Amino acid sequence: MQAAPLVSIRDLAVDFAGVPALRGISLDIRPGEALGMVGESGCGKSVTWLAALGLLPGKARISGSVTLEGRELLGAPAGVLDTVRGRRVAMIFQDPASALNPVHRVGRQVEEALKLHRGLRGAAARAEARRLFEQVGIPDAGRRLDAWPHELSGGQNQRVMIAMALAGQPDLLVADEPTTALDVTIQAQILELLDSIRRDTGMALVLISHDLGVVAETCDRVLVMYAGRVVEQAPARALFDTPAHPYARGLLAALPPLDGPRTRMAAIPGQVPDPARMPPGCAFAPRCPMAGADCAAGVPASRNLEPGRAAACLRPIFVARQREYAL
Ligand SMILES: Nc1ncnc2c1ncn2[C@@H]1O[C@H](COP(=O)(O)OP(=O)(O)O)[C@@H](O)[C@H]1O
Ligand SMILES: [Mg+2]
Repeated sequence: MQAAPLVSIRDLAVDFAGVPALRGISLDIRPGEALGMVGESGCGKSVTWLAALGLLPGKARISGSVTLEGRELLGAPAGVLDTVRGRRVAMIFQDPASALNPVHRVGRQVEEALKLHRGLRGAAARAEARRLFEQVGIPDAGRRLDAWPHELSGGQNQRVMIAMALAGQPDLLVADEPTTALDVTIQAQILELLDSIRRDTGMALVLISHDLGVVAETCDRVLVMYAGRVVEQAPARALFDTPAHPYARGLLAALPPLDGPRTRMAAIPGQVPDPARMPPGCAFAPRCPMAGADCAAGVPASRNLEPGRAAACLRPIFVARQREYAL
């Protein structure tokens, strides 16, 4: 039997002054699992988690449900959200340099997080900050505690951010494009670090990226998002081998070879629709090589293709993977 979900999101929708940003997404995250969320810029990946954690500006109108171990977070009092953010669910972002405070030494910032989330102070906080720096692979951890953010590289600062996120011993870490600002070799190191921390601590991981290659390597399961909706969800390997939704296929085709240089995706012709002028029916239809007149008639429902696998498309190309029989 599968464990009960840690976090469940149902029909989450967000609009800003009537302009839809998220148009009804649902997902479950089980304890310890790694879920990838992928899609081009603007499809609602970040807004999903900012809404879930009560971090959107007041002008955002939010509906649906987000529960943590069955407890509703949408509209929960500030006191409840304060006990969730950082302690149960931590988030790291693309640009560590702007998330760190430039006028405080990095060790002090981790110690502050330890005080806030675990009540640690003084020598105990210092020792735990040092242990966290070692855990995230910062060399010469004891001395680096006293560095300023500008003295560290982008990769080192992202490790500091991960140490801060781990300070509250979260059950779920949401890593929002954590490697987008880093160069390729450092990207791989940070992804390996996130993966090994997840395995060692048992925390769940949501990895957000515009790069299907990044999430497919690190995650068990992947959601492909387009224009505020989930268009395909699948085990990572299956999605990578046989993407069913034409958009997922486009993302995959846009990937550079695994052993070649990583570049930004560019190959899907056309543009993400303007959220204020969403096409009727399937939002991907105007860019889709498979589209017919029926695609504009209504938003395609998500249909199961095999267990754990669903796509919201009238014409998914789905080739069940061949079973392998031992002779
Ligand atoms: N604070 C905001 N005010 C108005 N619109 C926003 C705000 N934040 C995000 N959006 C809009 O919501 C949509 C989804 O954005 P986002 O979740 O940041 O995309 P992603 O993370 O997938 O790149 C976009 O159309 C974006 O312009
Ligand atoms: Mg984003």
